[in-house]
Amino acid sequence: MTSHVLAIDQGTTGTTVLVLDSRLALRAKVNQEFRQIFPRPGWVEHDLEDIWGSTVSTIQRALREAGVSGRDVAAIGITNQRETTALWDRRSGRPLHHAIVWQDRRTTDACAALKAAGHEPAVREKTGLVIDPYFSATKLRWLLENVRGARERAEAGEAAFGTIDSFLVWRLTAGAAHVTDTSNASRTLLMDLRARRWDRELLDLFGVPPNVLPEIRASSEVYGTTKNVKGLPDGIPVAGIAGDQQAALFGQACFRPGEAKCTYGTGAFLLQNVGTEPVQSSRGLLATVAWTIGGETTYALEGSSFIAGAAVQWLRDGLGIIKSASDVETLAREVRSSEDVVFVPALAGLGAPHWRPEARGVIRGIDRGTTAAHLARATLEGVAFLIFDLAEAMRAEAGRPFPVFRVDGGACQNDLLMQFQADLLDVAVERPRMIETTALGAAFLAGLATGVWKDREEIRRSFKVQKRFEPKMKPVEREQHLAKWRKAVQAA
Ligand code: G3P
Repeated sequence: MTSHVLAIDQGTTGTTVLVLDSRLALRAKVNQEFRQIFPRPGWVEHDLEDIWGSTVSTIQRALREAGVSGRDVAAIGITNQRETTALWDRRSGRPLHHAIVWQDRRTTDACAALKAAGHEPAVREKTGLVIDPYFSATKLRWLLENVRGARERAEAGEAAFGTIDSFLVWRLTAGAAHVTDTSNASRTLLMDLRARRWDRELLDLFGVPPNVLPEIRASSEVYGTTKNVKGLPDGIPVAGIAGDQQAALFGQACFRPGEAKCTYGTGAFLLQNVGTEPVQSSRGLLATVAWTIGGETTYALEGSSFIAGAAVQWLRDGLGIIKSASDVETLAREVRSSEDVVFVPALAGLGAPHWRPEARGVIRGIDRGTTAAHLARATLEGVAFLIFDLAEAMRAEAGRPFPVFRVDGGACQNDLLMQFQADLLDVAVERPRMIETTALGAAFLAGLATGVWKDREEIRRSFKVQKRFEPKMKPVEREQHLAKWRKAVQAA
């Protein structure tokens, strides 16, 4: 009975816990939202005690729902919102401040200054990232500079920094393990992507004392065991860690170079496995660690779009033309095409590969015959175009096509969107039966480290496609669509 695996997916708006049995069957899934804190425009924080509280209570509820006791858990895997930056006291375990969330833009000026001083090329070369408030380094510097006594305590070795994975492992093990994995460390701007070590020059550049850092470990190994966690017995191995987008790539069984997944949430994250050497991007994509297992590191290329489901939310909340997000498909199906209507949903600027923060949304081609249905259809198409642009940059960069393009996240339930995506990409799009791929990835990593599952093949075999969308669009039609899109993007 002990071979259940518990996966914690600590996301931006909520915490999800899955319980899987050794045959990879889902026994329970529980989600709990928690408080978002917006102290000023552009600032986003999380109370680490809220995160911990939601983690402990979802674990308890999931075990109850699965009808298993903590003693039946063979391993715990963690996946997490990435880049979000936490600082806590090593002795008491208490947070020194709220965590600064990845979306927080308070360090925009600090990043601009570093860029103006010419640091970006070297940082990009070493980390695979760009200098942007999105990543952890400038958030950590902000904490060290703005929380009273934080820098002194960090230098004296009394404070601990970590992304959310580190914080959770610390709490689960009662402070015995201060670790992170390569995938999370690769999002901090502090790790050398090839050497997979904290880099002295980067630490100096961002003013980070080495004493504050967690140890960088593999994504699948035992980091420590549970101690003093309410509702769990002591001694359960914590054995898997990966950032949520990387965990989804793993959960989608994208183990071979070229295989890719796209998560359609509020925004969208496209990741492609590029093999055991990082691929640096000249097209605005990020180079990142996918995972490290058994001494081998796999890398990924990543493209993120700030808007995906958010465009549909705008139809609902901004325009009021649908009642719930899932109504968009029915409305869009009222018309056979968007006619000439093109919607560039640059509602929060344009992310990769355009990187035009000043861009704004554009709707073109409206005439008296245009209806809400045309707009709904153009919205779904606009989301697919954004992903298409990312995918094109990725195909060019990696120099290989997508043998597999898998999808997950809420909006992947939209058949119209998925079909249009397949048509644009000219690649089959596969939607898995189990769409909780992020938590699944974390469970796999932990189960592999503890012998619950033998190898990745076992996982690949268990992967089931629920629906496959074959590309059907004629090349001329695709070209017409793309020509209209390109013009509209220029105008955004
Ligand atoms: O890089 C940010 C990403 O990891 C957040 O994911 O699913 O928590 O919004 P999510």
